[in-house]
Amino acid sequence: MFTKEILIWLHVVLASFWVGGMMFLSLVVVPYVKDKPFRNEAFQEVGRRFSLYGTLLTLTLLLITGLANAYLIHGGLERRTVKEKLVLFFLVVIISLVHDLWAGKRAVDSEYHRRWAKVIGIFNLLLGLVMVYMGVRIRLGL
Ligand code: HEM
Repeated sequence: MFTKEILIWLHVVLASFWVGGMMFLSLVVVPYVKDKPFRNEAFQEVGRRFSLYGTLLTLTLLLITGLANAYLIHGGLERRTVKEKLVLFFLVVIISLVHDLWAGKRAVDSEYHRRWAKVIGIFNLLLGLVMVYMGVRIRLGL
């Protein structure tokens, strides 16, 4: 039982960092930094760090703890909600990589890429909120 508790706890903490991190960036960091002289350096450094701790580490651990929860608590990947959540997860991974490696990286000298980075970032935040909702549905047996 203790393993299941720790796995769900870890999954929820990781989800809090991922979704909370994107909300913090959108509502606190970007509005403050966007008209400052050091904005390019700040966006690149903050982006690089969230790409490492968020996209690379957190999404990888969310997949591992999510699959462990699915098999240890919900009998594997049989249920439709679990399958749908897994498919949506891979969409989140692809969108995060496009954001980090294409739009975000080129945003320094390109208004076009800066706009795409914003749009993709907000879309990924909305997808993250949907992932939390699907987690709740799985928990409720739906
Ligand atoms: C962006 C990625 C993800 C986010 C933000 C996320 C978020 C969450 C949250 C917040 C919960 C807790 C819901 C609750 O306790 O009521 C949850 C539960 C769950 N998630 Fe995820 N999740 C993600 C990825 C995944 C993946 C890839 C899987 C793999 C199939 C997965 C499988 C599950 C399962 C099985 C539960 C239910 C655990 C339980 O019984 O409480 N999650 N998820």
